[in-house]
Amino acid sequence: MKFFIDSADVDAIRELNDLGMVDGVTTNPSIIMKSGRDIVEVTKEICSIVSGPVSAEVVASDAEGMIAEGRKLAEIADNIAIKVPLTWAGLKACKVLSGEGRMVNVTLCFSANQALLAAKAGATFISPFIGRLDDINLDGLELIEDIRTIYDNYGYETQILAASIRNANHVKDCAIIGADVVTAPPAVIKAMANHVLTDKGLDAFNADWAKTGQKIL
Ligand code: E4P
Repeated sequence: MKFFIDSADVDAIRELNDLGMVDGVTTNPSIIMKSGRDIVEVTKEICSIVSGPVSAEVVASDAEGMIAEGRKLAEIADNIAIKVPLTWAGLKACKVLSGEGRMVNVTLCFSANQALLAAKAGATFISPFIGRLDDINLDGLELIEDIRTIYDNYGYETQILAASIRNANHVKDCAIIGADVVTAPPAVIKAMANHVLTDKGLDAFNADWAKTGQKIL
């Protein structure tokens, strides 16, 4: 399973990348706002750290505007994936931009039918938002399952990029379902390493080791 980092925090991205945990990065207008940095400058820096796809999102609402913005964002680096919203205009932009050989990430997907349309429009990635569905008492993971089934039924190569990941269990569940990628905040990736029994076991080992009076170094 590929891990993308859903953040523009370059220090956090660099730390995880050094550990081999980063296959790509996703950003959106809210993430850029939180970074407090210029979109081109911060995206270029991320692309210099990470060799995998780095999603940069368009903000136009019409297809022509999205295509123009997408081409401009793609100039930042060779590994830019242009992120377009799952609207009718976004699907048109996806078709044109993917036809030019560019990576396109279709975002804000909340239904299997939307995912089917994105695959037919040539999307490289489809981003279903799990957490935001859970927030309104719908089942985000069921959406991932449905899209997996539909894509496998017809052999679509669009990669399922599970987004809006809120906790480590989301990552595990997406891995079991067979999502191609999860994009998660750095804190969620780090939380995957935690287990209360690991901490408890380590405390017991350390206490017993102290009783031996020995040293390794
Ligand atoms: C995906 O690419 C989005 O940037 C992101 O996962 C949205 O997550 P949120 O619902 O936590 O804002």
